[in-house]
Amino acid sequence: MTERWTPSSWRAKPAKHIPSDYPDMGELTRVENELRAMPPLVFAGEARRLKTLLGNVANGNAFLLQGGDCAESFKEFAADNIRDTFRLILQMAVVLTFAGGKPVVKVGRMAGQFGKPRSSPVEVKDGVELPSYRGDNINGMGFTPEERIPDPQRLLKAYAQSASTLNLLRAFATGGYADLDNVHRWTLGFVDGSPQGARYRALSDKISETLDFMSAIGVTPESHPTLHQVEFFTSHEALLLGFEEAMTRVDSTSGDWYDTSAHLVWIGERTRQLDGAHIEFCKGIKNPIGIKIGPTVEPDELIRIVDALNPGNEAGRLTLYGRFGSDKVEARLPALMAATKREDKSVVWAIDPMHGNTLSAANGYKTRPFDRILSEVKSFIEVARAEGVHPGGVHLEMTGQNVTECLGGARALSEGELADRYHTHCDPRLNGEQALELAFLVAEKLKSDAAEAAFKAAV
Ligand code: PEP
Ligand code: CO
Repeated sequence: MTERWTPSSWRAKPAKHIPSDYPDMGELTRVENELRAMPPLVFAGEARRLKTLLGNVANGNAFLLQGGDCAESFKEFAADNIRDTFRLILQMAVVLTFAGGKPVVKVGRMAGQFGKPRSSPVEVKDGVELPSYRGDNINGMGFTPEERIPDPQRLLKAYAQSASTLNLLRAFATGGYADLDNVHRWTLGFVDGSPQGARYRALSDKISETLDFMSAIGVTPESHPTLHQVEFFTSHEALLLGFEEAMTRVDSTSGDWYDTSAHLVWIGERTRQLDGAHIEFCKGIKNPIGIKIGPTVEPDELIRIVDALNPGNEAGRLTLYGRFGSDKVEARLPALMAATKREDKSVVWAIDPMHGNTLSAANGYKTRPFDRILSEVKSFIEVARAEGVHPGGVHLEMTGQNVTECLGGARALSEGELADRYHTHCDPRLNGEQALELAFLVAEKLKSDAAEAAFKAAV
């Protein structure tokens, strides 16, 4: 670091996708100052705990499951939505744990995932041009000039929503809801009657048998409180650095700076410039950090990014999310994985199979085909095995709701059905059934590839 890092040193660097067109920039500063005085959303010790768990992933001993909305919204804010996404993550984690035999680190794209980088600054509809929607913490989705004006008060509303979301998540995670004895009850109503529902029931029967056996030998939630609780973490893209700066505090235990807006924050594909504001900001906070790696990144650039964000090569500090597209992953990923392996970089390699597989359906809906999502995850696992790297996790846009936003899956959702329940505020999400199906298929792939790798190593 040539100049001294401070929570505001990013302000001297080129910053992309941070709005500077608030009608009253003074009001933005006043809101940021108000946020500085608000309680932290998460605690430094929790962020350190997540870093330790991600260190296990980096070392090949655990798997990361990260998922949630593309963009949380004020409109979809409801206890049922939070509960449904939370329990979907629990269900998927059960499936992945059972198959892989490794602990699953559970991280929600929740309680703060609002701001969006957009490919175009304007949106045109029927010949009318307006500024693009940029996330509920910046402006409104309605197609009117008023809605699209950035409003600093939205940051306060997003903070309050994140705080109540986290409050509920903490209650679900530790208050008994996540008790493994409830494994049968996590099934989402609409998934219950589906092929995935039946598969999940068979798996949860097995788990119940195991729990009965354990309880017979004296291992119960009372004697082992970990059976009663689940560790659950939050994350979002660190896009609006003014907000992140305001939430950044010195931890009294370690004297280090932590961004207390979430346990993990990541840098997006559009803001990962080495000399840019977003990398500068993330250099100085001690949270676990993620970064999206798209198809244009070259191996030497990747190593420079890794060195900038993780100069101490600390396991769990840095997660790389490949997001290439099913048609590019096999060409781009091997050299990148080979580079981190050759240079002995301790990183988590994960895959975001959503953002490289977005397309417009004939009827204009932005969508993603399930087959391409699955294919990118499978390629990721195969490339990782071939390069001798641990395929460490998946990062998904998904919801526990029965939406119709991604094509395909076991029910073969068609283009004509997209209009039925298309609710996303930004990118198309897997619905509960598609997400659970993906978990089963990924679990199968992880299991068969691990068996094959073990066999090859043995002969
Ligand atoms: C996202 O995760 O919502 C996102 C915008 O991804 P990316 O930066 O990979 O395009
Ligand atoms: Co998205």
